[in-house]
Amino acid sequence: MQLIKLLINGKEYEVAVKKNWTLLYVLREVLDFTGTKCGCNTNDCGACKVLIDGEAVNSCVVLAHKAEGKNIITIEGIAEGSKLHPIQEAFIETGAVQCGFCTPGMIITTKALLDQNPSPSRDEIVQALDNNLCRCTGYVKIVEAIELAAKRLRGEA
Ligand code: FES
Ligand code: FES
Repeated sequence: MQLIKLLINGKEYEVAVKKNWTLLYVLREVLDFTGTKCGCNTNDCGACKVLIDGEAVNSCVVLAHKAEGKNIITIEGIAEGSKLHPIQEAFIETGAVQCGFCTPGMIITTKALLDQNPSPSRDEIVQALDNNLCRCTGYVKIVEAIELAAKRLRGEA
């Protein structure tokens, strides 16, 4: 085991890890950040996405010790206390959440997208969701949610 420090949602955690433990495993099984989901564990579904230094990354393929010194944001760090983030509100309002399993990863992808591009086109939104699988919604409501969130974050809705 190796002691590492992880900066998660603005707080530092010291944690003993094995060299082959993924960030997803440490988040869920060691630190109890269970909002981040494990859909496939093989880099295919996007349910495990977290922000690492502002980029949406599949945490099932990041070794935990490689995330030392980085700024990690999980879905638990997106809301401000009990106040949901406008992206989360837009997902709820448009019916973009059904079973919800994909939703944390979708929200993380959306946050990274809108931080980098506040006015994405529909094509850019679809492209950003390329690595996020949803079995329930058919994506239409998710794209609508992202368009609504983008408008609100620009102060237009
Ligand atoms: S659990 Fe990581 S991509 Fe599916
Ligand atoms: S809402 Fe069920 S997988 Fe997306």
